[in-house]
Amino acid sequence: MPNTTANNILHAVNGYQDALDHQRELSKTGTDYNEQNGKVANTIASLHPKRLELVVSEIIEDTQSTKTLRLKSKNNFLPPFQAGQYINLFVNIKGTETARPYAISSAPQERSFYDLTIKKVAEGFVSHFLLSDVKVGDHFTSTGPMGTFYHNPLFHGDDLVFLAGGSGIAPARSMILNMIEDTLQHRKTTRKLHLIYASSYEADVIYENELKKLEEKHDFLTITWLISRPTKNYSGRTGHVSAELITELLGDDLETLQEKMFYICGPTSFHDYCAEQLKQLKVKARRVRIECNGPPKHPETLSGWPENLIASDKVQVTIHKADGSQGQFEARVDEPLLNSMERNGYSAENACRSGECSLCRVKVLKGSVFNPAEAHLRSTDEAYGWCHSCVAFPTSNVEILL
Ligand code: FES
Repeated sequence: MPNTTANNILHAVNGYQDALDHQRELSKTGTDYNEQNGKVANTIASLHPKRLELVVSEIIEDTQSTKTLRLKSKNNFLPPFQAGQYINLFVNIKGTETARPYAISSAPQERSFYDLTIKKVAEGFVSHFLLSDVKVGDHFTSTGPMGTFYHNPLFHGDDLVFLAGGSGIAPARSMILNMIEDTLQHRKTTRKLHLIYASSYEADVIYENELKKLEEKHDFLTITWLISRPTKNYSGRTGHVSAELITELLGDDLETLQEKMFYICGPTSFHDYCAEQLKQLKVKARRVRIECNGPPKHPETLSGWPENLIASDKVQVTIHKADGSQGQFEARVDEPLLNSMERNGYSAENACRSGECSLCRVKVLKGSVFNPAEAHLRSTDEAYGWCHSCVAFPTSNVEILL
């Protein structure tokens, strides 16, 4: 195309001449466009701050073992987030500095607080503290919202299935509230939402009344409740999220089922089980998103875990610091290295605690660690002995360079 034709086309674009005039004007005053870059960076930083200062404004008792902490900003600004994302909450428990990622369970349309719905984990260090010791008015620092577990309207479509296990309902609730809002606002007549919510016991079910009301109100939302360890008189559905159950509930031919978008959220064992069921149904990996926040709870059940090593085994961890000092402590093999380091007074920068951001990288000088698939290690890191300490488990006596 001759240049004159291209120029004519550009000039026909609305606003093109104005932009040229503006640029000409700025160049007369010697404007440095790097200043504009700085402004953009500052705007982005203000929308996505690295650290948030939060205060507990309310504590809601959901079930016997679950509470929701409602957190407001100390400076009246909470950054926007994508439904399904999490924040990493920093805590100091009797002198031990540590952090845990928690999915935001409130809707992104709610701009005045974040809800974190937390279930007490047996032997859980942080969940016990958050559920037993925290009071309204307590202060916390966290990262900004992060994570890639969210609905992408360009690629995920409108036929969405949420497979939630236990407290995995937290991100699913945020996504469902968001999707309901979006469906109503944009009058999306093709939108279909199906939640399959699995809990161990009836008493563990979170948000039951709220979800039932939403299902009654919106015919594009259907919910299946599933209890794996029912009491004698329970009359609802029981069992697990099997391939047969998914086929029966979604009631579509296999081809339609394979085109749906599946979001799996819950404990690691639940992720693995559901992913396997979808694989059996030949659902492509790109149609499945798996929530990833936190290290696997039972690494000893994952493939690649060394034979003959049991979860309660202990090893010696020797820490070498850059200043030449060193220290030693004992750690269980099923505890992430970062957690045991923090309990013993050693810290590494961290944000996601899920193997995604690489901030917690440490070098293994001697010995071996187990890196689960979610560690997302680069092959060069692996080759030179680096690991993501938030999701690495020491499987022999190890020496670590901090
Ligand atoms: S804290 Fe992000 S990879 Fe470990």
